[in-house]
Amino acid sequence: MITKIEELLKTVQEAAPKSAAEVEELRIRILGKKGELNALMEEFKSVPAEQKRELGQKINLLKQTAQERINALKEELSAAAATSAEKVGDMTRPAAASADGTRHPISIVKNQIVDIFSRLGYTVAEGPEIEDDWHVFSALNFPLSHPARDMQDTFFVEKRSNEPNVKDLLLRTHTSSIQVRAMEHQKPPIRIICPGRVFRNEAISYRAHCIFHQVEGLFIDEGVSFADMKQSILYFAKELFGETATIRMRPSYFPFTEPSAEVDVSCNLCGGKGCNVCKGTGWLEIMGCGMVDPNVLEASGIDSKKYSGFAFGMGVERIAMLKYGVKDLRLYFENDVRFLHQFDDAL
Ligand code: DAH
Repeated sequence: MITKIEELLKTVQEAAPKSAAEVEELRIRILGKKGELNALMEEFKSVPAEQKRELGQKINLLKQTAQERINALKEELSAAAATSAEKVGDMTRPAAASADGTRHPISIVKNQIVDIFSRLGYTVAEGPEIEDDWHVFSALNFPLSHPARDMQDTFFVEKRSNEPNVKDLLLRTHTSSIQVRAMEHQKPPIRIICPGRVFRNEAISYRAHCIFHQVEGLFIDEGVSFADMKQSILYFAKELFGETATIRMRPSYFPFTEPSAEVDVSCNLCGGKGCNVCKGTGWLEIMGCGMVDPNVLEASGIDSKKYSGFAFGMGVERIAMLKYGVKDLRLYFENDVRFLHQFDDAL
């Protein structure tokens, strides 16, 4: 009996259960109703009197040791469970907000422009960035000697002859090429708004870049007049710059429109009084526009006796600069998050 007690003592002392269930198993085995300890007590009854003292002490020692050891093991395991729960944290707590990116100011302004014209019934049209001479220049009535066709201004992808050639491949220098594609493929009425990236061989500075964005508009139908154009652009200016905005038009020249005009909007920073952004004039130049030249309509197969239309084109970087007071165009391309986060609320 004494060896049995000693064996059990050893088992209790050396037990290394890994879970609460294993501790419970040990407790039942030793201290449970039908456990080892009770079995020993039964046996103890028939032990000769002279051995009772020593065995009694041993059984008590086993009981005490088992109880203490089991309590200690329970505590150890629940402490370990608590620290691992601490590591995981409160699983029901809402996740910490991750730092979201923001929409780029150029996208914000481009979307605003497109939205305004969508409300006037314009639909979005797009075209390729690598274009041919025909769609960028020839179909738009650019004379062969026009300086924009020069290598100095245009990035050529594949120059097929020394003379301007309608098949030369180049990076489009303006989104007006999308007008030509639309006129080739659609019958009037045509009412499109064309956002896109354009490329020019410019030295990069605070006010020029070799890549920038334009939005082009084109409206062709029967009886479209200069007055229609003026009203549409005035509506656009008020929607973009606020109800108090006014516009003025100055005569200008573009090969693809006749007559052509440059559109100014009243300076929203000084309210027209004159400041350093509007250079004291109270006006900011925002786009070029004009009545589509009959040559351009005919080049794309549209009957210029039946149809007329207007077109306009604007630089998105420039509009964003004027709207948000951005002073250096290069900021748009650097993707410095300190700059971009300033537009969080502009969406
Ligand atoms: N394509 C011109 C440019 O890149 C902008 C422009 C002016 C577009 C007048 C037009 C327009 O459609 O009518 O500077």
